[in-house]
Amino acid sequence: MRVSVIGCGHLGAPHAAAMAELGHEVVGVELDLDLCKILQTGRAAFYEKDLDELLGKHVATGRLRFTTSLHEAAEGADLHFVAVGTPLRTDGRGYDVGQVVGAVRSLAPLLRRPATIVGKSTVTVGTVARLREIIGEHAGSAGVDLVWNPEFLREGHAVEDSLRPDRIVAGLTSPAAEKAVREVYAPVLARGETELILTDPATAEVLKSAANAFLATKISYINAMAEVCELTGADVTTVAHGLGIDPRIGHGGMRPGIGFGGGCLPKDLAAFTHRVGELGAAGAAGLLTAVETVNHARLDAARDLVERAHGGPLDTATVAVLGASFKAGTSDVRNSPALRLAGLLHSAAARTVIHDPESVPAARRLHPEYTYADDIGTALQDADIVVLATEWPRFTEDTSLPATAAAKVRRQVLVDVRTAVDTTAWTASGWTVHQLGRPVQHPTA
Ligand SMILES: NC(=O)c1ccc[n+]([C@@H]2O[C@H](COP(=O)([O-])OP(=O)(O)OC[C@H]3O[C@@H](n4cnc5c(N)ncnc54)[C@H](O)[C@@H]3O)[C@@H](O)[C@H]2O)c1
Repeated sequence: MRVSVIGCGHLGAPHAAAMAELGHEVVGVELDLDLCKILQTGRAAFYEKDLDELLGKHVATGRLRFTTSLHEAAEGADLHFVAVGTPLRTDGRGYDVGQVVGAVRSLAPLLRRPATIVGKSTVTVGTVARLREIIGEHAGSAGVDLVWNPEFLREGHAVEDSLRPDRIVAGLTSPAAEKAVREVYAPVLARGETELILTDPATAEVLKSAANAFLATKISYINAMAEVCELTGADVTTVAHGLGIDPRIGHGGMRPGIGFGGGCLPKDLAAFTHRVGELGAAGAAGLLTAVETVNHARLDAARDLVERAHGGPLDTATVAVLGASFKAGTSDVRNSPALRLAGLLHSAAARTVIHDPESVPAARRLHPEYTYADDIGTALQDADIVVLATEWPRFTEDTSLPATAAAKVRRQVLVDVRTAVDTTAWTASGWTVHQLGRPVQHPTA
């Protein structure tokens, strides 16, 4: 099929590359000229596992190309994915859907033959109805269908999840739209591993918001239990393990820590909380507000833990922060709890040095006032305390790190706010390990 992907950021770039990998001829439209130029070279402007390889492969063959021109998309494709941003409004009361409305309003009059617009951005329930009116006003005589196909990919696994999604949800109202969806996802559906959920647009919109709200709830739930464990001397990792064995609960999203962040969960939760309140769903609004409150408190809990681990105020301490991106596998620092914690420590400590394997350039652009190290050795040098803030495998799975880090630091104190390291390996190398909601683990060597 000939498809376009409008908006080639963290969602659109992997989606465009995946569509090419599935065999479609793809034109990616990215308004930001600098981003577009980078994409034209077959690379992404950010780190996402396996993305550069897939972009490079398909840009080289010409099956995937990038442009800033919507005209090219309108002429070169019959199905148009809309993957532009939906940031939170500055007053925090719902999404700013200006990019979505703008993209659809600009594209519709350019369509000269029947086409399908497939929205992937996360929107508030009711947005599809509004976009239908816009298409009706602008699309002239061409038969233009609108489908809402929310995206469930996990950043850090965006390529894998785009190629092998666990579900495809399509909110639509016509047999022609269903045919287009089945055709564009045919190679995925043929594998028989992905459930296709065909529904109405409002259900598709709510399903996406409900999914993110549920994930956020699970994370905040176990973090709330970490608070309880801290006050009782219990071990939250054992509590989480015991809880997750119950198939009605499950282990996913049950790792206690510093809370959720990134470009999606915090804003999607805030927008959904606002919308359900507006709709008068008081129970849902109350529940989701509590989820947000627990999450906001995690940063202070993490900072307090660092102070406790140090044995008092940090004003004379040198702190090494390992990790700046909001999670492992991506250089995304939007709403990153790791970088926020680094900011609190930067204000409190004598010196704070931040190292991340992929996100130092992005973090530096956002917070040029912080101190960064491009390599881990420099970050650890003479540290009084090491804070593991993002769970990159090279921090958590490198079995030589406890010993090599020990040789660099002034004091062997590790604060793992992601509950991600193998504490036995660290304590065996002489480290004291502090984690949220767990008793302190003392050196065994
Ligand atoms: N990031 C994720 O992992 C993820 C996952 C699921 C859903 N989503 C949703 O997908 C949407 C996009 O998120 P993102 O993280 O990719 O945002 P992003 O800011 O990284 O990317 C959006 C891109 O769209 C471009 N853009 C805006 N208007 C345009 C236009 N008219 N034509 C062409 N390009 C245009 C922007 O320049 C930007 O590069 C959001 O609604 C988000 O909630 C994101």
